[in-house]
Amino acid sequence: MSRLAIFGGAPERAKPFPSWPAFGENEEQAVLEVLRSGNWWRYSHGEAVEAAAPEAGQPRSKVAEFQRAFAQSQGAKYGIACANGTAALDVTLKALGVGPGDEVIVPPYTFIATATAPLAVNAVPIFADIDYETFNIAPQRVEEAITPRTKAIIPVHFAGQAADMDSLLHIAQRHNLAVVEDAAHGHGGTWKGRGLGSIGHAGTFSFQASKNMTAGEGGLITTNDRDLAELCESYIWGGRKIGRPWYEHSRLGWNYRMTEFQGAILLQQLKRLEAQSAKRRENARYLDARLSKLPGIRPLRVPEYVTGHSYHLYIFCFNEPEFGVSRSDFLAALLAEGVSCLAGYAHPLYKNPMFLRQDFYPRGCPLTCGHYDRAIDYAAFEALCPNAERACREAVWLEHRQLLAEREDMDDIVHAIEKIHEHRLDFQPAVVNKGE
Ligand SMILES: Cc1ncc(COP(=O)(O)O)c(C=O)c1O
Repeated sequence: MSRLAIFGGAPERAKPFPSWPAFGENEEQAVLEVLRSGNWWRYSHGEAVEAAAPEAGQPRSKVAEFQRAFAQSQGAKYGIACANGTAALDVTLKALGVGPGDEVIVPPYTFIATATAPLAVNAVPIFADIDYETFNIAPQRVEEAITPRTKAIIPVHFAGQAADMDSLLHIAQRHNLAVVEDAAHGHGGTWKGRGLGSIGHAGTFSFQASKNMTAGEGGLITTNDRDLAELCESYIWGGRKIGRPWYEHSRLGWNYRMTEFQGAILLQQLKRLEAQSAKRRENARYLDARLSKLPGIRPLRVPEYVTGHSYHLYIFCFNEPEFGVSRSDFLAALLAEGVSCLAGYAHPLYKNPMFLRQDFYPRGCPLTCGHYDRAIDYAAFEALCPNAERACREAVWLEHRQLLAEREDMDDIVHAIEKIHEHRLDFQPAVVNKGE
């Protein structure tokens, strides 16, 4: 094989992977239609639970149409669109009645929003380690983290693969806890044939730019509980209540609404999802088979209950001593070969300065504002979460857009990795982390 690209050789691949977002004339027409209609904003509060006919002279709301279509596609009765996935989590916890003094169990290997949602309602996030084979929250660690203050669990269907919902639902039932599925990566994903977001008390989705369906920003809550849906919608609509006067506000809500432009784009993105998901799955299966044969490369395990993986990310663990190159050198070499790749999170969530300093709002609250009587030292979670620590050291992420390419492009990924392994002695051995 020729020299590695990082040392001046020709790259394995010169062609770019598909770009993201994927869009076409459909999205273009959808945006233009909203633009020209002048209806950029949805007046129709209450449509999450009551499919109202548009008022005389008003077109049907794109957001109302989208939230219904998306909920249906995930197998949930109700869909409540909102501004983003962060807001979806905050609102759901509020609607579930989680509040000051309560604890919410979350994984430490996820985006910050999963853990800031409890803080937004003045509850306390408690971290439970992940399973190292799937990167999803480990039910046994959840069970160990439960205290009389625990009110909810937020499992993340990480990278688009369902968490172990049987075990989690069982634990939740025994301890009377709410389960909020963070399905920000789970568009079109299923667990035992059931749509992600339709299994727990509620599910939350994100349509931010990197996600498998996007309008730049956007979020949505799914639930089968009508009362919960109505409450969520009220929190998103400034505390308004169905059937009450427009300027009457029943509870403390915010403006977390989605615009008609976003609704129109997302309706078109939803039409693309099934074919895209099938392509991602086919290519991921191929990569699993090829990459698992290489030394030091271990794709995440896909348990049987994952009947539909959304593959927001394709992840494998990289074992430095087995491969013979440090992960940072590997990532730089792979990128130079024309395969973009990421290290993922640099550290688990509890190691963020905001947790170490408890820089919450108001400062220190909810841990210090009188409702809570347990001392929490977030630095101590390091000892409790060895798998999250290891995931931060060993993960390699590929993006879902790369899985939208063709079979020969997957071969390029495999060949680039094989090439780096073949040339492993070209790297300084001193940089390999032996994991001591
Ligand atoms: C697991 C997870 N939860 C929640 C969110 C928050 O979504 P948003 O960026 O739409 O606020 C994200 C976004 O990256 C995420 O990855």
